[in-house]
Amino acid sequence: MLRNDQLEQWDRENFFHPSTHLAQFARGEAPNRVLRTAEGVFIEDRDGNKLLDGFAGLYCVNVGYGRQEIAEAIGEQAKELAYYHAYVGHGTEASITLSKMILDRAPKNMSKVYFGLGGSDANETNVKLIWYYNNILGRPEKKKIISRWRGYHGSGLVTGSLTGLELFHKKFDLPVEQVIHTDAPYYFRRENLDQTEAEFVAECVASLEALIEREGADTIAAFIGEPVLGTGGIVPPPAGYWEAIQAVLKKHDILLVADEVVTGFGRLGTMFGSEHYGIEPDLITIAKGLTSAYAPLSGSIVGDKMWKVLEQGTDENGPIGHGWTYSAHPIGAAAGVANLKLLDELNLVSNAGEVGAYLNKAMSDALAGHANVGDVRGEGMLCAVEFVKDKDSRTFFDAADKIGPQVSAKLLEQDKVIARAMPQGDILGFAPPFCLTREEADTVVAATVRAVKSVLG
Ligand SMILES: Cc1ncc(COP(=O)(O)O)c(C=O)c1O
Repeated sequence: MLRNDQLEQWDRENFFHPSTHLAQFARGEAPNRVLRTAEGVFIEDRDGNKLLDGFAGLYCVNVGYGRQEIAEAIGEQAKELAYYHAYVGHGTEASITLSKMILDRAPKNMSKVYFGLGGSDANETNVKLIWYYNNILGRPEKKKIISRWRGYHGSGLVTGSLTGLELFHKKFDLPVEQVIHTDAPYYFRRENLDQTEAEFVAECVASLEALIEREGADTIAAFIGEPVLGTGGIVPPPAGYWEAIQAVLKKHDILLVADEVVTGFGRLGTMFGSEHYGIEPDLITIAKGLTSAYAPLSGSIVGDKMWKVLEQGTDENGPIGHGWTYSAHPIGAAAGVANLKLLDELNLVSNAGEVGAYLNKAMSDALAGHANVGDVRGEGMLCAVEFVKDKDSRTFFDAADKIGPQVSAKLLEQDKVIARAMPQGDILGFAPPFCLTREEADTVVAATVRAVKSVLG
C-alpha cells in the first residue's frame, strides 16, 4: 500500500484524541502512533514495530487479535442485515441469541439484558433504571448513588461523576449532586500502616455506614463498584470486603450495581467477577469482553427484583422511555455471539486464570525485592506494580516525577512491551489478552525488570 506521508500531520491537525494532552499533541511534543495490524497478543504499527500488547487495548481484546471467526461473523452479518433497530420488539437472530448466551453465563437471579454501545452508556442506563425503579416504588427521594473513590465507571455526565478520579471531575463541573463517594478498598494505600486487612475492611464498612447515616438511607438508591478496582489502580479487594459491604447495603435497602466492564467474561478466571467474590448484584454492567472489542457493544443485565418493577412501571406509564438507535446493533451482537463461542471453544477463561496466576507470581518473584517496588498485586489476568520512594515508610514519589509513565515508556522503548501507566499514582498495569502463553508472560516480566532497573536502578 502506498504510504501516506501526510498522515501524522493530518492526525495532529484534525483528530481530537481522547485522554490526551491536547496542546502537547497538537504541538508535536507527544507521540502519535498509527496502528496497522495485529495478531494474537501482538500489534504492529505502520512503521513495522511489533509490540506485545500487555494491556489488550484497554483491557478489552480478551480473545486476542486477528480472530477470523469473529471477523467473518461480522462480515456475514453486515452483508445479510447490517442494521435494524431493536425498538418495540424488534430483534435479530444475533441479538436474541446473545441475550440468551449472556443470561446462561450470568450469576443467578438475573432476568434480562439491555444492549448499549460502551461501558459509559451502559452505566447511564443503570442509573436511569435505578431512578425509574424508585419512582415506581413511590420513593422519589431515594435517588443518590454511592461510588468509591478510584472507581471507574465511564466519562459521561453521570458516569464521569461515578468515576472517582480527580482528572475526570476537574474543570468539568462534576460530580453531579446525586453522586456521592466512599472509601476505596485499597489496603496498600491505607492511612494507618499498622492496620491489619480485617481492621481496614472494618474501617471501610464503618465509613460507608457513616455516609449512609449522614445522608439518610431513604435518600440513597444504589452502590456501584467494580469487583476489582481497575483504572483506579488494579486493586483486588481485601478479604471479606464484598461480604461486609453487601450486608450494609441489604440492611438499608440499597441496590448493588456490579460494574463488570473489565471483569465480565473471564478476566479473573471465572465468567464474572461477581461469581469470584460472592457478589449478588441487582444490575451488572458489561462491555469490553462481551465482544472482545471487535465491535462496540455493552449491556446492562437486570436482576429479577428490578425487572418486576420495570414491568409494573410500563403497565402504569406506557413503554419505557429509554433506547438508543444502535441498541443491540446486529454487527455488535454477531461479534458477541462469535466471541463468546470462541471463549468456550478455546478454554480462554481458564487460561486467563492459569496464565494470569503464573504472570502474577513471576512478576512478584522478580520484583518484590526491589527497593522501589512497594506492591505487586493482581487477580486472574490483571496485574499491577506500584512504585514507592521509600518502602519502609511507604512514601510515594512526587507525581511530577512521573515514575509510572517513565517505566512504561522504557518498557516500550527497550522491549516493545505495552503496559499502562495507570492515571492516578505510580502504578504500572497489565491486562493481557487471555491467550497469553507462559513464554509471553516471561517476556513481559523480563522486560518489566529491565525497565524498572533503567528508571530506578
Ligand atoms: C469498569 C469500567 N466501567 C465502565 C467503563 C467505561 O467504558 P467505556 O469506555 O466503554 O465507555 C470502563 C472503561 O474502561 C471501565 O473500566
